This record gives sequence, C-alpha cells and structure tokens, in this order.
Amino acid sequence: MSSPNPTLTSHPATLTAVIGGTGMNQWPGLEIHSSLAMQTPYGEPSAPLAIGQIGGHPALFLARHGEGHKIPPHRINYRANLWALREAGAREVVAIAAVGAMAEWFAPGEIALPADLIDYTWGREHTYSDGAPDAEVHHVELTHPYTPALRGRIASAARQAGVRIGGAGVMAVSQGPRLETPAEITRMCRDGCDMVGMTGMPEAALAAELGVSYACIAVSVNWAAGIGSGGIHDEIRQSIERGMAKVQATLARLLAQGPVDATG
Ligand code: HPA
Repeated sequence: MSSPNPTLTSHPATLTAVIGGTGMNQWPGLEIHSSLAMQTPYGEPSAPLAIGQIGGHPALFLARHGEGHKIPPHRINYRANLWALREAGAREVVAIAAVGAMAEWFAPGEIALPADLIDYTWGREHTYSDGAPDAEVHHVELTHPYTPALRGRIASAARQAGVRIGGAGVMAVSQGPRLETPAEITRMCRDGCDMVGMTGMPEAALAAELGVSYACIAVSVNWAAGIGSGGIHDEIRQSIERGMAKVQATLARLLAQGPVDATG
C-alpha cells in the first residue's frame, strides 16, 4: 500500500472487523487480499490488519496479541487497535475472547454472547478522552457495552450455523496475565459475573468512544480457578479447538448476511 494509512477504497455501510485472541490468532475462513500496517496517533496496533473476504463479503482481521501471540493482555495497545480498525473502515467489531467460566451453564467448549461486564483491570490506557488541551471531556455511555443489534445478528448467525449459544451473562475483565485466585473468582461470582477474560476492557469502552458497534463471542475454555476439578491448562488444551470451531461457523454465517446499516 502506498500511503501510510490508506482506507479501503470502497467498503459497505457496515464493514465488519474481527479481533481474534487466544486460540484465534488467525481467521482461517478469511481469504486475505492484503495486509495493512497502520500508524495511529496512539502508536501501532498489535499487528498489520488482514484485509480480505469471507463468502464474498469484505472483512478485516486483527490479531489482538500480535503475530506469534506475544503481547500480554496488559500491554496490548487497545487504543491503536480500535483506532486502526475504525480508520480502515470498520463500523462493527466482533471480539473473540477465550474465557474462564463461573456460570454452570457455560461449560468448556461452549460459546456465549456477554451482555454486560465489570472491569477489574488497572493501569491500561483506557480512553481517547485523555485531557487534550483543545478537546472537551467526553463521558461515553456504556449502558450497552455490547451492542444489542450486533449481538442479535450474531445469535441469529449461530442459529443458522447450527451452533448453540450457551447464554448471555456478565464478563469479568481481569488484569492478567496470571489467572485468578479462587477467592478472586468467589468475589467475581458475588459481583454477578459469569465468566472471566483479560482483554474485554478497555476494548469495549474504546469502541463505544469511537461509535463502533461492538460485541464479543466468548469461548469457555476452562472452569475458573477453584470451580473445576482438573488443571486449568489441561482443560484449555482440551476445549479451545471445539469452541473456536463454533466461532468460525458463526462468523461465516454472520458475514454471509452481508452488509447492514450501521444503525440496524
Ligand atoms: N481467567 C481469565 N482469563 C482467561 C481464563 C481464566 O480462567 N481462561 C481463559 N482466559
């Protein structure tokens, strides 16, 4: 690409971007046409954006943890990631997140569409409204951290693909990269959380600040600390591929629905 930050020359009203995390460092169904190294006012995103098509529909992909999965959750440049996707034309972002499960209904290998979240992270660059001298402070509304219309379309895509969605639920976002202690998980359960991941924030809030629709397909890969009986890493190894296969089938159907109005 010739200019440093070219946008896609023609993109539909709603260009869909997928941010893949642990277990999805690439999007196997995406037929990649080009790779776009972006610069943003906040630095570089985790990796070049993969631009391609799935089922004839254009789409973007970004590996959240970078090429080779080397960036830990607290070091991800979330601001650059969302900014780059928006600048490349994305109007909706589907975030894929491997999570530990607390809710009984969310066994390893199942997928869910969280409806709300609690942020337990700290020290991350978490806003674009950061006191620039010429900008007014903006208190973004996060009543719906996951865009209801996009969640609805993902749910319908999953149904069409014959994939069961386990439920909705509340996502706890922990700091990582370590896993939680059992007492931390007990507290999260008391707080009303159903699952825990490490990357959901500030991603959701930044998408809202940019006016980009955002939803998460959460993949249960283990029972959270103190809940299951086995070793967490063994559980992850055994379930992650099963869950990600459901994600791939759902995404293929979602993109096959074609572009929709961003407000839809
Ligand atoms: N906790 C936090 N993040 C995770 C987990 C977990 O148990 N499993 C996968 N991502």
